[in-house]
Amino acid sequence: MSLEVARSLDYTPEVALLTAPIRDRVRSVIPEVEWAVHAPYVAAIQELKRRRNAVVLAHNYQTPEIFHGVADFTGDSLALAQQGARVEADVIVLAGVHFMAETAKILSPEKTVLIPDLRAGCSLAASITAADIRLLRERYPGVPVVTYVNTSAEVKAESDICCTSANAVAVVESLGVDRVIFLPDEYLGQYVASQTKVEVILWKGHCEVHERFTGQELRAYRAGQPDLLILAHPECPQDVLAEADFVGSTAAMIRRVGETRPRRVVMVTECSMSDNVAVEFPDVEFVRPCNLCPHMKQITLPRILHALETMQHEVVVDPAVALRARGAVERMLAVGRREGK
Ligand code: 13P
Ligand code: SF4
Repeated sequence: MSLEVARSLDYTPEVALLTAPIRDRVRSVIPEVEWAVHAPYVAAIQELKRRRNAVVLAHNYQTPEIFHGVADFTGDSLALAQQGARVEADVIVLAGVHFMAETAKILSPEKTVLIPDLRAGCSLAASITAADIRLLRERYPGVPVVTYVNTSAEVKAESDICCTSANAVAVVESLGVDRVIFLPDEYLGQYVASQTKVEVILWKGHCEVHERFTGQELRAYRAGQPDLLILAHPECPQDVLAEADFVGSTAAMIRRVGETRPRRVVMVTECSMSDNVAVEFPDVEFVRPCNLCPHMKQITLPRILHALETMQHEVVVDPAVALRARGAVERMLAVGRREGK
């Protein structure tokens, strides 16, 4: 059912008043002239969310007008999966990439899950198929398969357990084995191997955003600014992680800034995240190397509005695949619950 918003998308005094609290919050990262373009969409999306009983779940890499303007929940992949399982709404709009929307659908099959643009994929998810996993199982019989959530539902369905960057080490250790197959992120797998005594069989998948960072680049930042705190995502290559003061998921990096309140910080990850976090910490200087994820950037306010108006694009997962994938995701969530996370 299509629900066109009756209002125009002009920056009227009414829209300015309605959206003023958000404008004040994001003033440091969104100039006034840009806000005038975003605000009518923000107001229209807020209204349609109410009429549809919908929520917007937004990943930390979404742009600030989405992250601060229309999201009901924000977070890393783990937090979005947890919210996908417990959210009370008829409709979930996933402002993130396709595998995140699929995970929400797998955990909440009774809900309508929308992704505003079907092109929002992921280079890691594209690097492996379910058939690849079946071949690996033939080659390494009995070795458990741990799969990063950045994969399709079909790949999750072939896996023993999922993980995110926030819990990969805990998930691998929870299995109590001396060898695992870890898919598909080679660098995250190497990081897990460095933090555990478990032998990790790797796959050569990479995140096209994080693989671009280099250790040399970070050494150059540090040389110019010795008080710089370097936080890096474990999807980065090993020589990058070797230069970092802290390695963690996007949410863990944000927590680290809050706990340590550095004078200067560089978040070695997708570039919108620094904008989102800078809003919370005006006293911290963010050094911002700008590696954008082209998939995350397919999600825009006009496309979120269009999704809510037309109820497109609905994410559908074959129920038999979803049931098996759900087992792998729920086993991951249970590890977190055992650890109180
Ligand atoms: P997290 O937010 O779970 O750390 O994942 C980063 C990422 O690249 C998601 O696509
Ligand atoms: Fe995939 Fe990397 Fe983009 Fe995340 S940042 S969606 S891992 S390509």
